[in-house]
Amino acid sequence: MRTPGILPTLPGGMGLYSRIHGMFCPDLGIDLGTANTLVAVQGRGIIANEPSVVAVKRGTKQVEAVGDQAKIMIGKNPGSIEVIRPMKDGVISDLELTEAMLRYFIEKAIGKRGVFRPRLVVAVPSGINEVEKGAVTNSAMRAGAREVHLISEPMAAAIGAGLPVSEPVGSMIVDIGGGTTEVAVISLAGIVASESVRVAGDELDQAIIKHFKDLHGVVIGENTAEQIKFQLGCALPPAEERTISVRGRDLRTGMPRSIDVTNTQVYQAIHHQVASIVNSVKMVLERTAPELASDLIDRGITLAGGTSQLAGLSELLSQETGLPVKLAKEPLTCVARGCAALLENLDALLPILESGKAD
Ligand SMILES: Nc1ncnc2c1ncn2[C@@H]1O[C@H](COP(=O)(O)OP(=O)(O)OP(=O)(O)O)[C@@H](O)[C@H]1O
Ligand SMILES: [Mg+2]
Repeated sequence: MRTPGILPTLPGGMGLYSRIHGMFCPDLGIDLGTANTLVAVQGRGIIANEPSVVAVKRGTKQVEAVGDQAKIMIGKNPGSIEVIRPMKDGVISDLELTEAMLRYFIEKAIGKRGVFRPRLVVAVPSGINEVEKGAVTNSAMRAGAREVHLISEPMAAAIGAGLPVSEPVGSMIVDIGGGTTEVAVISLAGIVASESVRVAGDELDQAIIKHFKDLHGVVIGENTAEQIKFQLGCALPPAEERTISVRGRDLRTGMPRSIDVTNTQVYQAIHHQVASIVNSVKMVLERTAPELASDLIDRGITLAGGTSQLAGLSELLSQETGLPVKLAKEPLTCVARGCAALLENLDALLPILESGKAD
């Protein structure tokens, strides 16, 4: 996929070594997300899009399944199998399993590792520290990468959304994923103001679980909470009431029980978390220089990431900021498409990417 005119062309030709290597092993772009991992291959676009989940033999690191196969086991796994999400709040929470997951995705993209190892561009939250960056780099190197370059998630999302990131105009991107909300104003290929908060889709699911535990004394599973969010979740008070029936476990009797859940209850359950997301956008707007802020009056705010699809969220953000808000096309794949665009011109763009420092 080529995205002409979006990125600056920087000097620096492709070295012979890279060129020979590239003939046998394409570069890969990875959106290593808290909820989903997407892989783009140079010249081929996105070739994998699966949940960031690993199933292991309980008490060990022996991997039984990764991605789609592992996600369907959540809440339904036998005692001998444990289903783990190795990323939390946008960063690695289990190094060994992140490495296993990356190895799975790299093999899916280029087959079993041979002599040639791929260069990787990995999108990471803009708020992560050096230790967290080192963890991503080390995991990717051990999983089979030859070089690892990091790009901040909001920059990749903005490129994927087709925003004119290299022009001297302000563009605002808000990427609301599973673990983090990334807000950034970008101009001249740089991030001029940003905020990364660890509140996004997962926190909404947890808030739904807590709400119905407190309200009905029933514990519902994570997948059920996510389904409730998809069907009834809303950022604005609902205009008309809708109800669905869900199943959980009664805390008192320990027995399975059905409860009725309304969209008004779900709105109340997630209200605080939604307010934190809105606040992070307002904070960045307050810190944006007047010239760039004035660009946003015309250009508005672009939303990406899975949670940007929450009903009523774009309307709420527009009400609270007074700016036009639009949802990017295919919000769940923006970051990966941004990485794919970078791969088309990786050698020239390396100077603007961070090289992760491995041990
Ligand atoms: N229609 C929808 N309404 C509300 N939430 C949604 C919808 N579709 C997906 N989501 C939520 O989006 C989140 C996943 O989004 P995404 O894949 O962008 O996250 P991620 O990139 O893995 O996470 P992060 O960038 O925070 O590390 C999940 O929490 C999921 O429940
Ligand atoms: Mg993401």
